[in-house]
Amino acid sequence: MARKKLIAANWKMYKNPEQSKQFFTDFLPMVQGHDRDEIVVCPPYVNLHAALEAAKGSQVAIGAQDVYWKEEGAFTGEISSTMLVAVGCTHVIIGHSERRQYFGETDDSVNLKLKAALEHGLTPIVCVGEVLEEREAGLTEDVLRRQCVRAFNALSARKAAKLVIAYEPVWAIGTGKTATPQMASDAHVIIRAEAAKAFGDDFAAALRILYGGSVKPDNAHALMAEDEIDGALVGGASLDPKSFTAIVKY
Ligand code: PGA
Repeated sequence: MARKKLIAANWKMYKNPEQSKQFFTDFLPMVQGHDRDEIVVCPPYVNLHAALEAAKGSQVAIGAQDVYWKEEGAFTGEISSTMLVAVGCTHVIIGHSERRQYFGETDDSVNLKLKAALEHGLTPIVCVGEVLEEREAGLTEDVLRRQCVRAFNALSARKAAKLVIAYEPVWAIGTGKTATPQMASDAHVIIRAEAAKAFGDDFAAALRILYGGSVKPDNAHALMAEDEIDGALVGGASLDPKSFTAIVKY
């Protein structure tokens, strides 16, 4: 079964509402009619409204960069799945390495967030990936397996149906160093095997696994040509409408 590729923009902490609107003014005409791939843009929370307005009526979906697992309550600074759904978000990034590195995200909080997002019908993009020391110590497979096992804890194939994984080797994020298509492919095979163990072979065969880490217009084609790579999670190169278009059209 062919998996439709998903090309997702992770804007991180860049752009204000006006700049977000401008991005869509430039971007949408360039990708008009492009439905070979699914396109998602994940701006900072305060730009969600502007992005949703600007993308209305287009094929571009809007996602958030994080979510909290409770529905509401005294959790200063947090945003829930129900809130994201209420404004019109359809996707959410969970467990990005920057959240793990700087904001105390753990495999267990990733699992809680994943369950909440799925419960509310969001498409979660769960990020996994090893740091450089882990790769150099030959621990990549162990790390990926652990991150997957713990993220998938207490989920069924039915509940996890919308799951998307992004393999993002931490040493490749924002560094200009990309994993080779072969390295990415090998990691995706490990992740897919873990998904098969947790949710069965049919689930694993349909699961989309994106690659992220210095995806640029000039390496997108080679990465997307791999059977194992079902799309991209793009940081830096997604901020500019022209370069993101070039990646979408790899
Ligand atoms: P990058 O970021 O494309 O700037 O390396 C990718 C990501 O962090 O999702």
